[in-house]
Amino acid sequence: MPEPILDIRNLTKTYKRGTTALAGVDLTIQPGEIFALLGPNGAGKTTLIGAVCGLVRPSGGEIFAFGEDLQRHWRRLRRRIGLVPQELSFDMFDTVIRSVRYSRGMFGLPADERRIEDVLRSLSLWDKRDSRIRELSGGMKRRVLIAKALAHDPDLLFLDEPTAGVDVELRRDMWRQIDALRARGTTIILTTHYIEEAEEMADRVGVIDQGRILLVDDKTSMMAKLGRMEARFALAQAMGEIPAGLTDLPLTLEDDGRTLVYRGGDGQGQGRAQVAELAQRLTRQNIGFNGLETRQSSLEDIFVNLVERNEEHHTEIEGVVA
Ligand SMILES: Nc1ncnc2c1ncn2[C@@H]1O[C@H](COP(=O)(O)OP(=O)(O)OP(=O)(O)O)[C@@H](O)[C@H]1O
Ligand SMILES: [Mg+2]
Repeated sequence: MPEPILDIRNLTKTYKRGTTALAGVDLTIQPGEIFALLGPNGAGKTTLIGAVCGLVRPSGGEIFAFGEDLQRHWRRLRRRIGLVPQELSFDMFDTVIRSVRYSRGMFGLPADERRIEDVLRSLSLWDKRDSRIRELSGGMKRRVLIAKALAHDPDLLFLDEPTAGVDVELRRDMWRQIDALRARGTTIILTTHYIEEAEEMADRVGVIDQGRILLVDDKTSMMAKLGRMEARFALAQAMGEIPAGLTDLPLTLEDDGRTLVYRGGDGQGQGRAQVAELAQRLTRQNIGFNGLETRQSSLEDIFVNLVERNEEHHTEIEGVVA
């Protein structure tokens, strides 16, 4: 294993008014990987990123970046870290090119007009370089934020919901941009509410809720481990209960007994085999169905599942205390 590019240990953050945004986060990121952090509103994603990017002072724990203690060597290490913040933040009256130049200068790097031009061109902003930022659309403004974060060639780049409020085309562009960065060896940590984004881009996915990391896994093995299958049989006639000959399968009735739903499988073919068998058994038992829809469960299902389970867990604990 190479040395991690980022190593977060037992990081906690309690804001002044008493909100605990991070409740002991451990996270290790390897060089070159793309890591997606998924979590509902208020989970602690922006706080976690803020702690690494020097915007949030941690209450406890340690952060090592590039093998060094980040807080001790902040001045030296910060230029290797880039951030595309969740909130739009810049001088709206500044022009695109000046704003991007300024970002590079802020990190103490020498001016490099070629690099600025490359960055602007790659984000389709070159034609807009002399526009004032406030004249740009929301999606374009978000691109400027990305250009600013790229202007100093960071080795470790944080993208805090880079595609929120961005149309499909821009989002695809952004993904391409991230791919190009990956090819250059940039390590990327992104947060997103779009599961498809994590599925499309990330090598590993972490789920965070209520300041805790619930799960970190390789994207494909997470899908395989938890990846279940759903099959919906539209029944010709509504049923009051699952027939005796089918109770060994993970079935439920929905839509007032008109839809028989299978949810199960191990993500490695078991689901498909069981659904095929179920179809045969239905036919043999003369249970007619007019339609069958199947789908593989996505990261979205996994995510919702995990977060629901976490909530249940918390309610239980609260129940015990009360
Ligand atoms: N500056 C602050 N002062 C006080 N509380 C804060 C501050 N910033 C965030 N919080 C609280 O900390 C918790 C975590 O917020 P955070 O912004 O990290 O969540 P998030 O996962 O980024 O959510 P979202 O998906 O909505 O962006 C929330 O309860 C939030 O209200
Ligand atoms: Mg956030």
